[in-house]
Amino acid sequence: MSLAPAPATASLLAANVPALRRRDFPADFRWGCSTSAYQIEGAATLDGRAESIWDRFCTVRGNIRDGSSGAVACDHYHRWPEDLDLAAQLGIGAYRFSIAWPRILADGAGKPPNAKGLDFYSRLIDGMLARGLEPWATLYHWDLPQRLQERGGWSHRDTVDEFAEFTDVLSRRLGDRVRRWITHNEPWCSAFIGCYDGTHAPGLRDWRTALQACHHVLLSHGRAVQVLRANVPGAQVGIALSLHPNSSASASAADVAATRRYDGLRNRWFLDPLYGRGYPADIWALCGDNAPRMESSDLATIAAPTDFLGVNYYFPETIAHAPNDGPMSARVVPTPGAERTDLGWEVSPAGLLVLLERLQREYGAQQIYITENGASYEDHPAADGTIDDAKRCLYLQQHLLAVREAIERGLPVKGYFAWTLMDNFEWAEGYTRRFGLVHVDFATQQRRLKHSGAWYRSFLRE
Ligand code: FCB
Repeated sequence: MSLAPAPATASLLAANVPALRRRDFPADFRWGCSTSAYQIEGAATLDGRAESIWDRFCTVRGNIRDGSSGAVACDHYHRWPEDLDLAAQLGIGAYRFSIAWPRILADGAGKPPNAKGLDFYSRLIDGMLARGLEPWATLYHWDLPQRLQERGGWSHRDTVDEFAEFTDVLSRRLGDRVRRWITHNEPWCSAFIGCYDGTHAPGLRDWRTALQACHHVLLSHGRAVQVLRANVPGAQVGIALSLHPNSSASASAADVAATRRYDGLRNRWFLDPLYGRGYPADIWALCGDNAPRMESSDLATIAAPTDFLGVNYYFPETIAHAPNDGPMSARVVPTPGAERTDLGWEVSPAGLLVLLERLQREYGAQQIYITENGASYEDHPAADGTIDDAKRCLYLQQHLLAVREAIERGLPVKGYFAWTLMDNFEWAEGYTRRFGLVHVDFATQQRRLKHSGAWYRSFLRE
């Protein structure tokens, strides 16, 4: 039994988590951390970077809880060597990051790419390789160039062509060193949170626009797969979806049907077309006239075979029938007795197992990587500077136990990336929510390893 937790968390863990050792996972299991460009880089106007939809969204009062933006964030654009050192010291072998589109095609498709932007990522990747970190590049983690939003953003079909060009430019420049590519991070959020809920950039609230945007995001994924295959021999390509296992609030026929509809939009709307089944007919019917406009080859493009599925797992959802709640007439209700993080997200390692089983059973997913998993808790640095984030330690350990169990059951989970290396700009929550293994003091930019980071390091280095 070698849990090797940070000292102050030992008692909490011993009570809850049985032995968890790295050697109980396959030797070739990938261990990593994830970040994204807008959340950490800062330097929003430097070296030719153009405006993104998040820069614009953050200027609107009320959009971001603390009125902040990613203009400075963790200043990773300047501090990346220190940050990669931290990542390497954790003992991870893989680092998932994203590339800011507005740094690369600042002036638009057909115009020369921004050399300074490309140079930045080229240096960053060399820095990863020099430290033994395998680069896992995400092409789109929500920072669409604002100039594209001006003509409709993801709801405009031309954005798909621009994304293909962006992918082409990047893969030509970086493909000699980057083998792992993730096309999109969480299309659900780009489309439905951004264009229907309006609580993420670009802040629209229109169902038809959201459905069309979603279709184009998926289509652009398929196009990017084609481009990557052509440009990068041996590329390993996937997409990272935010997926949520769900259960019905009651056994009533109404709640069960609502759960099916909710799941249809939240999970099947993405998985079905990616796995070659087209859009789920039940949800398509509910969309009526708002269903996305498609061309005849679109579904084949979306279903381009990938090498792995990225799963971002945070929480399960309990669903009840709610006639006035959105196009699915369904509502997420609290699960009785559920434990929650400080952000209110339900904690359920068992949900991860349920999800992974479903992905294999219903979709035959071959290689699954957990591309994000983590928890937001308020961290209170002690007088001596230590950060005893015992709950985050426990969260990670419980979810890793679920992953281990999944592997024991024969499910094809090949890697795990903790969200996130360091505290950062948490979208509409600004800097009020911390997910990092490393604490960031945003006034001084000082980084300090939390106990969760120390635990992950000792686990990985066992
Ligand atoms: C995910 C996002 C990631 C981060 C975590 C907490 O949905 O992909 O950027 O904000 O949630």
